[in-house]
Amino acid sequence: MAEHLYIPTTKDRKGIYEAIIPQVEALINQETDLIANLANTTAVLKEAFSFFWVGFYLVKEAQLVLGPFQGPLACTRIAFGKGVCGTSYTQQKTLVVPDVEAFPGHIACSSLTQSEIVVPVWQEKKVVAILDIDSDQREDFDQVDQLYLEQIASLLGKTQKW
Ligand code: SME
Repeated sequence: MAEHLYIPTTKDRKGIYEAIIPQVEALINQETDLIANLANTTAVLKEAFSFFWVGFYLVKEAQLVLGPFQGPLACTRIAFGKGVCGTSYTQQKTLVVPDVEAFPGHIACSSLTQSEIVVPVWQEKKVVAILDIDSDQREDFDQVDQLYLEQIASLLGKTQKW
């Protein structure tokens, strides 16, 4: 079990993502439990980037239900089509929100959140979860985050028992 996470000392997010993705892969390859693997994935992302909130919402009972996360207390259930998470689920695509106040229907679990990225996790042709990351900085996410977070979501989607 790789208990030590190596994070390069750079501010370049691309370099950090490229260093952590193989480590996430190694971690989840050693463990079969879904919750354990989602939990460690949120820990890696939180530690690598110090994001304000990192977590998964799982598709259960036709809604999104809070799963493993790192950060402050969060809403436990989100209806499809509601908030950034529910909209990402309904539109079946990644949403990058540079300013949450400008997103109609944004659900403010914390008033400190300024920007957000939400990435669906696909298992074959179905969205089974969404990865939600909140930042306390405006415009904190771009296509680099999207590219690498989609890689992480794809890795989880393909390898885990959902
Ligand atoms: N802001 C999200 C809700 C989840 S929390 O941010 C953790 C949304 O609008 O869907």
